[in-house]
Amino acid sequence: MRAVRLELNGVEVAAVAEGGETLLTLLRERLGDTSPKAGCLQGTCGACTVLLDGEPVLACLTLAELADGRRVTTVRGLADGPRLHPLQEAFMDGFAAQCGFCTPGMLVAAKALLDRDPNPTREQVIEAISGNVCRCTGYTPIVDAILEAARRMAGRRG
Ligand code: FES
Ligand code: FES
Repeated sequence: MRAVRLELNGVEVAAVAEGGETLLTLLRERLGDTSPKAGCLQGTCGACTVLLDGEPVLACLTLAELADGRRVTTVRGLADGPRLHPLQEAFMDGFAAQCGFCTPGMLVAAKALLDRDPNPTREQVIEAISGNVCRCTGYTPIVDAILEAARRMAGRRG
């Protein structure tokens, strides 16, 4: 057992993790953030993607104790209060979510991309979400939405 203290979506939180416990379990079952989804639990679907100090990681393959003293961002941390992140708005406007199970991981992976490259090419978007599986959309609306969000964010920056 180990105490883990981290900043979750801007808020200092703490929980006790069992030895070998994953960050996904810590977030979902101890800290009450069920937005990272428990899909394959073996690193192949991307539904559990979160940002660890700004870098995308698969929470199902990340030991909880590795988050100690670090910043974790889940999809819940994307919105600014009641105001959705441009990625979330573009996903809604472009019907890029159907069942929605992949959406939190997709949005987090897309945020990591736009944080490091605000003006990605279509190929870079496809690469950035290549570890995230969607069984509903055929991916095109998701890629289009990420590119649209990048355009809107560039417009807001002027
Ligand atoms: S649940 Fe982590 S990659 Fe599928
Ligand atoms: S919207 Fe259903 S898995 Fe992507």
